[in-house]
Amino acid sequence: MSAPEAALILERCNDLAGLSSQPDRLERVHLSPEHRAANDLVARWMTEAGLSTWQDAAGNQCGRLEGSAPGLPALLLGSHIDTVPDAGRYDGMLGVLLAIAVVDRLRRSGIALPFALEVVAFSDEEGTRFGTALLGSRALAGTWNEEWWQLTDKDGITLAEAFQDFGLDPARLPGAFRRGESLVGYLETHIEQGMQLEDADRRLAVVTSIAGARRFALTVTGTAGHAGGTPFDRRRDALIGASELVVAIERLSKETGTIGTVGRLQAFPGGVNVIPGRVELSLDLRAEFDADRDDCLERIRAAADEICTRRGLSFAATETYRADAVTCDPGLQAAIGAGIRSTGDAEPMAFWSRAGHDGVAVSALTRFAMLFLRCRGGVSHHPDEHVTAADVAAALDAYEAAVLHLVSEY
Ligand code: GLV
Ligand code: MN
Ligand code: MN
Repeated sequence: MSAPEAALILERCNDLAGLSSQPDRLERVHLSPEHRAANDLVARWMTEAGLSTWQDAAGNQCGRLEGSAPGLPALLLGSHIDTVPDAGRYDGMLGVLLAIAVVDRLRRSGIALPFALEVVAFSDEEGTRFGTALLGSRALAGTWNEEWWQLTDKDGITLAEAFQDFGLDPARLPGAFRRGESLVGYLETHIEQGMQLEDADRRLAVVTSIAGARRFALTVTGTAGHAGGTPFDRRRDALIGASELVVAIERLSKETGTIGTVGRLQAFPGGVNVIPGRVELSLDLRAEFDADRDDCLERIRAAADEICTRRGLSFAATETYRADAVTCDPGLQAAIGAGIRSTGDAEPMAFWSRAGHDGVAVSALTRFAMLFLRCRGGVSHHPDEHVTAADVAAALDAYEAAVLHLVSEY
């Protein structure tokens, strides 16, 4: 365990948190000026750790340390560098900095590596800007969808335009695609974003799988009208219907073992004295098993139909994101487990991730596994995200030991 290394990692998380589009909170989205600055800073830290660096054709910041011979397949380490609005400073960034620190340690140790090590700071995991997530890792995995070029941000800028503004050429995107044969696998460390470790008074865990998620833009449509002059029995109030639907989503999620969240809801036209004629709301559904999630979705659709028919409203749902559940590779899980055991935890906890991660996309290309570390109160996607230096130090030791475990059995 090394306190100075953990302190440096936490200091760098603070440095990255300073690269924000907002003066008083952290928000750094895909292909923004702050993304550019973050890539440059991460590239500098990669160079200091002895990696050769490049930005790939999707805006992912990459670095490579050759193994015992040039051009060997690479073990990928990393996480993402973009954030949600009003974010904490560890979701994603901590995994990138831990990966750089692991490579720095292994380079200094002088050990002959049977594979190369690469670090990736993925450009877009959260999907904050364009509404669909994992754009960086899906580019790397070669599972790009050409329709995404027409996605727009809140200012109407298309993804293709944002690429150009960032100095990237959409036509060159295939240059970011990697081949499975060039990779050994992908290992990511991430804060848990839940309470299981803290509740069990443990620092680290092996991730077994990542929840499958689907996201939708929902619209409930009624008729706008005068708040004073329209009696209740003549109203077609879209917000009352949407409110019933939100409550039904919570009930149906609980009944089907699904995690359902309405994170955004807007009433139109939005006047205090106007009956809402239209409501737009988001829906995020995720579960350990895709069948439970999809069962929940069907029940939500049926509930929406019933509510809207009863209230004279109409309902529409557009899917904006879909990723099915993925399982972490057993061999890489064993390496993570060995890494955690090397820190003195004889029986590491192992559980599935309720949060999405770049491994969802990378799994289409190569095997992957993840190491979780405890975060205070399970708080994440919030500025109060917090980790201790001691836990970061333990995660660094476990991450390095996991890589050495793979070296020993390669
Ligand atoms: C990503 O952080 C997600 O799980 O939404
Ligand atoms: Mn996140
Ligand atoms: Mn994350």
